[in-house]
Amino acid sequence: LMPERCDFTVFGGTGNLSLHKLLPALYHSELEGHLPDDTRIIGVSLTDLDDDAYRALVHDALLEQVGDLDDDTSERLLARLHHVRLDIEEAADWHNLYGLLKDRPEVESTVRVYYLAVAPTLFGPICRRLGDGGMTEAPARVVLEKPLGHDLASARAINAVVGEVFDESQIFRIDHYLGKESVQNLLVTRFANTLLEPLWNSHWIDHIQITVAETVGVGERVGYYDRAGAMRDMVQNHLLQLLCLVAMEPPIEVGREDVRDEKMKVLQALKPMTAVEIDRDIVRGRYAAGPVEGRQVKSYDEEVGRVSTGSTDEGLTETFVALKAEVQNWRWAGVPFYLRTGKRMDRRSSEIVVVFKEPPHDVFPHRTGVTAPNRLHIQVQPDEGMRLHLTAKEPGPGGYRLKPVSLDLNFASAFTQRSPDAYERLLMDVVKGNPTLFMRRDEVEAAWTWVDPIIQHWTESGLPPKRYAAGSAGPTTAITLIERDGRSWQEDS
Ligand code: BG6
Repeated sequence: LMPERCDFTVFGGTGNLSLHKLLPALYHSELEGHLPDDTRIIGVSLTDLDDDAYRALVHDALLEQVGDLDDDTSERLLARLHHVRLDIEEAADWHNLYGLLKDRPEVESTVRVYYLAVAPTLFGPICRRLGDGGMTEAPARVVLEKPLGHDLASARAINAVVGEVFDESQIFRIDHYLGKESVQNLLVTRFANTLLEPLWNSHWIDHIQITVAETVGVGERVGYYDRAGAMRDMVQNHLLQLLCLVAMEPPIEVGREDVRDEKMKVLQALKPMTAVEIDRDIVRGRYAAGPVEGRQVKSYDEEVGRVSTGSTDEGLTETFVALKAEVQNWRWAGVPFYLRTGKRMDRRSSEIVVVFKEPPHDVFPHRTGVTAPNRLHIQVQPDEGMRLHLTAKEPGPGGYRLKPVSLDLNFASAFTQRSPDAYERLLMDVVKGNPTLFMRRDEVEAAWTWVDPIIQHWTESGLPPKRYAAGSAGPTTAITLIERDGRSWQEDS
């Protein structure tokens, strides 16, 4: 249920995520009338800004991100904004923030949301201070942005500290992929239809591919990214979450703990990889210079080189990962999951491809033409859609001439509504206190448990990632990874 009153506090209020994602999402919620009437938005950062200067900064960001602003809406949103300059070490700064939070009517029934859009090392210290100030009583909620730690140990440590201050039901760990319309639609496709689920197993499915390809490079975020790499930045969270939604058993109901319970079982069933398997079944890449969307872009090496201090990079950070994973349970035994993600690739596309088995027996021994296995292609972004590849007879006399055809569902033409951005949906879920599309503590830790030994092995072996030209499909070894199994990456667009 939407509360009547809300104080939405964003730590890192002048940062990239706030200006590019959170405030535009709040703008759209305002436009649609989804924000509780009595809502304040408090940006917290180290910058010396008064409320008006912060409003001007946010206004510029909205103009850039949203474009054509509705004047009334932006005026209403900007009027809600406040800014508090805060140095985490400074008690006086914290007292300013406590003061502002307490300075409102009906303070007891106000839902306080603390969005921590800052480095994970600050999660613990910020929560402690909020606890010290008596600011964490329910209905307060805290939102933790990814990355949740750097590895299993740091994730556990963060979860433990945050857990001392907030109850698990107050903690919302964001993976914005779960807020994407197309990702939620995956649940509906699987569980609100009867057509697919009977085939959704190792009897009928040969393998599954999940690709999240980006054309962007690391850009301004090199300072963060260089200590992360694609495995931590994308695979540990977004790709494994997509895998969970594809592979999980039907939940009893969405909207309770069931979805998270079922995802958790998939994570637990992921086969841990041995050193030999890591070397054989995972390809790491790092982009070199090259043309992307008609423009020559710099190599990752050059981008890292620009950061004058603090880089720990020794040529080991990967910007691309392709891997073959296994889900060890009754449904999926023997069905490989091929995952890949990379920056500076030839196209921006996130897609899931379910490749079905060949018919068990060929009743057209004299056929001509071309056949291909049935394939369900789920386009997550940019253009949401679904395509089912079938085989048909080409009209004409002279026997069976076969040809692949496809059934197409394009969401933009099937639905006329605007597709809300992932953050819009998720922020309103936090305000309402609905945790279904957020990661539970055990899920985050299970994902790190699988990823940790892989990264550790890379660190120990010290082998550099393979270079790939920006604007390409990644290192050629990523193609070999799947082709040596007699399969190939399927791209529709
Ligand atoms: C973020 C990663 O979580 O997801 C970024 O940190 C990445 O590196 C982004 O670019 C991709 O999100 P989207 O929604 O653009 O696919």
